[in-house]
Amino acid sequence: MPRHVAIIMDGNGRWAKKRHLPRAAGHKKGVDSVRAMVGACIGRGIEYLTIFAFSSENWRRPEEEVSFLMGLFNSVLEREIGRLHKNGVRLKLIGDLSRFEPRLVELIRHGEALTADNRKLTLTVAANYGGRWDIMQAVNALCREHPQQAGQFTEQDLAPYLAMAYAPEPDLFIRTGGEQRVSNFLLWQLAYTEFYFTDKLWPEFNAQALDAAIVSYRSRERRFGRTSEQLMATADVIAAKAADKPLVQNA
Ligand code: IPE
Ligand code: IPE
Ligand code: MG
Repeated sequence: MPRHVAIIMDGNGRWAKKRHLPRAAGHKKGVDSVRAMVGACIGRGIEYLTIFAFSSENWRRPEEEVSFLMGLFNSVLEREIGRLHKNGVRLKLIGDLSRFEPRLVELIRHGEALTADNRKLTLTVAANYGGRWDIMQAVNALCREHPQQAGQFTEQDLAPYLAMAYAPEPDLFIRTGGEQRVSNFLLWQLAYTEFYFTDKLWPEFNAQALDAAIVSYRSRERRFGRTSEQLMATADVIAAKAADKPLVQNA
């Protein structure tokens, strides 16, 4: 099982268009898929679910759609926080919240504080998030705190300043809606993530579709730069240790 699944929930607008409905209807329907995904992840022992809800580029959409999305975010939080908490979900937000209404920010902070000690599943919602924004805010924070080391920072120095430093990097990335791009999602964290693209539109995505993605994930060999033979050798050592047997039998 992947420990961390990250999803670009795409295709709400096209789902609505196919049904001659306004785009808003697709976004509303998409909330049901989020709820289903939270349940499915808990059921499968997946520890981290990260969903892209609103990108730093989505402000470019018509004002009417942006304000609908903000309102939807507000009402979903109000309605679902209690249930998430009851189900042992820790809620986290990543992104630049400074552009949101104070009332929405307050709701987010309240939800994060209420659920902070839950560990069944960590649900991270990326809102007004961009991968480049994340890297830059981390670089700036690091430089502010350690100005004298500027020019000598390592990857390990930067990592704790990234917005999702509390989570392992995603194992499985899923994008629905047929597009095969990253759209400024978790640029740093996806360096060694397995990618899975599906034509299914987000409102159609369900537990069965998640299982199809997991089947694909499990068929991959994650080499992290090594050779296949090296991985086999490591697996043999682990198996031998687990079985408490010497790796090489004496002749
Ligand atoms: C994803 O669905 C949801 C958000 C970006 C908020 P879209 O709204 O991008 O749906 P399509 O891509 O237009 O079908
Ligand atoms: C990516 O979807 C952002 C979210 C799902 C929130 P978009 O629909 O905005 O991506 P592009 O514009 O097609 O790349
Ligand atoms: Mg889209």
